[in-house]
Amino acid sequence: MNESKKYHLVVTSGPTREWIDPVRFLSNPSSGKTGWHIARAGLKLFDHVTYIYGAVESPYASVEGARNVSVDTTEEMAIAVREAIGSDTLLIMAAAPADFCMEHIEEQKIKKESRDSLTIHLRPTIDILKSIADLSYPAFFRVGFAAETGNLEQYALKKLKEKNLDMICGNLVDRDLRGFGSHDNLLHLFTRSGARTTLGPMDKASLSGELLKFIGKMLLT
Ligand code: CTP
Repeated sequence: MNESKKYHLVVTSGPTREWIDPVRFLSNPSSGKTGWHIARAGLKLFDHVTYIYGAVESPYASVEGARNVSVDTTEEMAIAVREAIGSDTLLIMAAAPADFCMEHIEEQKIKKESRDSLTIHLRPTIDILKSIADLSYPAFFRVGFAAETGNLEQYALKKLKEKNLDMICGNLVDRDLRGFGSHDNLLHLFTRSGARTTLGPMDKASLSGELLKFIGKMLLT
């Protein structure tokens, strides 16, 4: 019997939204594709899979066979993650939660009127991984992503440490090239114990399978 099968796989996916007023929000162009493929590939390897997804593109909304949890804001995603995790959990935070929200959400639509400019006041949202960094369930394994536009290794290693992760998957994102919403991808993996390797470039379905195989081996050591 495959010992890693006992883990409950929890995958977060896609962007969250932070509302400015009832008709406008802050978000990012994450499609949810990577998280969706990871959750889908996970169904073959784990008995229980929970897929927590934000405002993903329609093909990536829900994974058949998984427990699906739809969320809107970063705060809602944080609550869903806390409810899902526990002992024997592999958490893969592939989501791109919005990092800032309004200090006060306007209850009515902000009117354009004759404005030349508009100033809004933002505050940071909860950092989900940091907020669970001190939780120490037995056999709780956490994997983060670092989506960077440069200095990948430096930022990935900083996040690995600050968010108390077992592993981080660094990838370069760009509006036009690979990363958000793109088909092919290249991941740079950095582990807590100092191991590093590269997966890809390959399509996101294959990459997700390779990533889970790599993590599966780590779970058994
Ligand atoms: N993450 C999180 N909570 C947030 C934002 C991000 O848990 N509010 C998680 C992401 O899911 C990812 C990791 O933290 O696994 C790194 O996310 P990233 O967007 O690369 O970095 P940030 O921590 O948001 O920092 P910065 O935007 O300054 O690079």
